[in-house]
Amino acid sequence: MTQNLIHLFDYNIAREDTSSLKYDGRLATFGTNDVMPMWVADMDFAIPEAISKALQTRANHPVFGYSIAPESLYEALMDWLLVKHHWQVKREWILLTPGVVPSLNLVVAALTAENAGVVVQPPVYFPFFTAVTNQNRRLIENPLVLKDDGLGKLQYEMDFEHLDSCAKDAGLLMLCSPHNPVGRVWSQGELQQLLAISKKHDLIVLADEIHADLVYANAQHHSLSNLALASEKLMSDESHRIITAVSPSKTFNIPGLGLSALIVPNQVHRLAIQSYLNTMGVSVTNPLNLVAFEAAYREGGDWLNALMAYLQNTCDEAIAFIHEHLPIINVIRPQGTYLLWLDCRKLKLNDASLNRFFIQEAKLGLSPGAMFGRGGEGFMRMNIGTTKANVMAALTRLQCALAQH
Ligand SMILES: Cc1ncc(COP(=O)(O)O)c(C=O)c1O
Repeated sequence: MTQNLIHLFDYNIAREDTSSLKYDGRLATFGTNDVMPMWVADMDFAIPEAISKALQTRANHPVFGYSIAPESLYEALMDWLLVKHHWQVKREWILLTPGVVPSLNLVVAALTAENAGVVVQPPVYFPFFTAVTNQNRRLIENPLVLKDDGLGKLQYEMDFEHLDSCAKDAGLLMLCSPHNPVGRVWSQGELQQLLAISKKHDLIVLADEIHADLVYANAQHHSLSNLALASEKLMSDESHRIITAVSPSKTFNIPGLGLSALIVPNQVHRLAIQSYLNTMGVSVTNPLNLVAFEAAYREGGDWLNALMAYLQNTCDEAIAFIHEHLPIINVIRPQGTYLLWLDCRKLKLNDASLNRFFIQEAKLGLSPGAMFGRGGEGFMRMNIGTTKANVMAALTRLQCALAQH
């Protein structure tokens, strides 16, 4: 089945004039439309047929009133988490939310006090910072460390000693797992260490696991909440202090439909989050995002397997090309996500010049590493969720630009 589906990802789909941020937002973001868009994290691929059909069927009904999530949607999510991640989630733990970024803000606002310390691990997806600063909480940075194994393999790791010292002064830790932009899929050992520190300091941990399904063959995602349950079998729901954000949006390329979930075993936390959400009066579900969400988790598995096989191949070829033709750039091989983190520090350009080089000389629209905070300076993030031909064409543009630079 996987083999039959892989070829689907080789089709170029014109996305201009579809109100696409990635395509139609180029002028506003890069000052020109003349860049290949490899920035905001959505993919250029057609979604699984089952989701399209579910959307079409619902769209054929002429009334689009207020909606309510059916029990079958919760079951689809619980089945997915059990089969894919061996994580048994109880129905009452699930809160539907209007996206993962709103969820980050919501959890910070609902579960921490004004001026509380919140730990983040830069370089990291930039809304992690604003979720803290937007609510007048204190940002505490526990930077990741880029380690060289001596054989030229670079890998990011957490600095646990530093985390232990930061955690004393914090109420919440925001974990990105797998990690955007560095592509790490945290090992069970690393997550256990993080759990031990969070327990020691009585931290709440918010694990953003939006990229959990986008993991390559050499790595395995472990849900932090599940590990916490397994390591302390007697832990009651009430003592559980891990909250997880999940969503089908990255996995199945439906981020524009905006429906996600928080898994909150602790009832006190759950009520606080729900009550905060209620005060905002936000309508989380709508007739279209509901059917897409359920169809994705129920029927998207084969498509996802094919997607990962396709992305693995693209990633391997892109990295091989960079090693051979762009030796001045060090690429960090991702264990998960469709994002390549490019270390461009040997170009010796400051961040404004590096960004200008990519836009004006290479004609590529990437995300500047500096956006992801400390440790991102001198890096660029390339979204490879497009045809392999596009990725290779982009790298060829980069090769030409570097030759002329
Ligand atoms: C780690 C992470 N969290 C959240 C999001 C966005 O989530 P949403 O579109 O559901 O707000 C992204 C998108 O790139 C992401 O990488």
